Amino acid sequence: MTCLIHPSILSADFSQLGKELTAISTADAAHIDVMDGHFVPNLTWGLPVVKRLKEVSPIPFDVHLMIEDADRWAPAYAEVGCESVTFHAEAAIAPIKLARTLRESGAKAGMALRPATGVEPYMDMLSELNMLLIMTVEPGFGGQAFLNVTLPKIKRAAAAIEGSGAEVILQVDGGITEETIVRAAEAGATCFVAGSSVYGADDLEAAIAGLRRAAASAPTH
Ligand code: DX5
Ligand code: ZN
Repeated sequence: MTCLIHPSILSADFSQLGKELTAISTADAAHIDVMDGHFVPNLTWGLPVVKRLKEVSPIPFDVHLMIEDADRWAPAYAEVGCESVTFHAEAAIAPIKLARTLRESGAKAGMALRPATGVEPYMDMLSELNMLLIMTVEPGFGGQAFLNVTLPKIKRAAAAIEGSGAEVILQVDGGITEETIVRAAEAGATCFVAGSSVYGADDLEAAIAGLRRAAASAPTH
């Protein structure tokens, strides 16, 4: 199985973000958490900061928008060249239209679901997406424990993606460690966001390699 590792810079040293991006250059993309203090009770950075960081990053950007009114704000992240832009289903009025707009701007379109949001209402729109993100913690903060209760949803989403024939990356985000990544991969996830387990390690490259190895070791069905 090909698995993708996306470290989240939410756990990086904010005074050194350029260097912190270079430190994860062996990963597949950098996960950039945009929070507005409304959709989630935390605030990070917005478009001008993301645009500048993108210019110095050695790897692609996977932007995770935890913001209200995604229909209005998400397209600008695609327009500044972010390779992948993920909005929350709970924050979009017209998710199909938004996904099409993102793809027309040259980005991959991702849609995220909070832990308690069902995947079933969205199964018919999988072909509109490049990525489906199943949150494995409540969005807002790094360093939380992986919610095992999300595993059946990951399995159902993986089966729906396979059944649809569409090429959709199944991403998980929150509480991913060398231990929990095995469970998520076994359930069918193919892309793994990891904040504290990568940036909290002494050797970031080794942490990324360790996650890759652990995901690859998961039994497949
Ligand atoms: C949480 C963010 C995550 C966060 C994950 O709302 O979306 O991307 O950085 O951090 P860890 O891996 O520490 O749970
Ligand atoms: Zn995230």
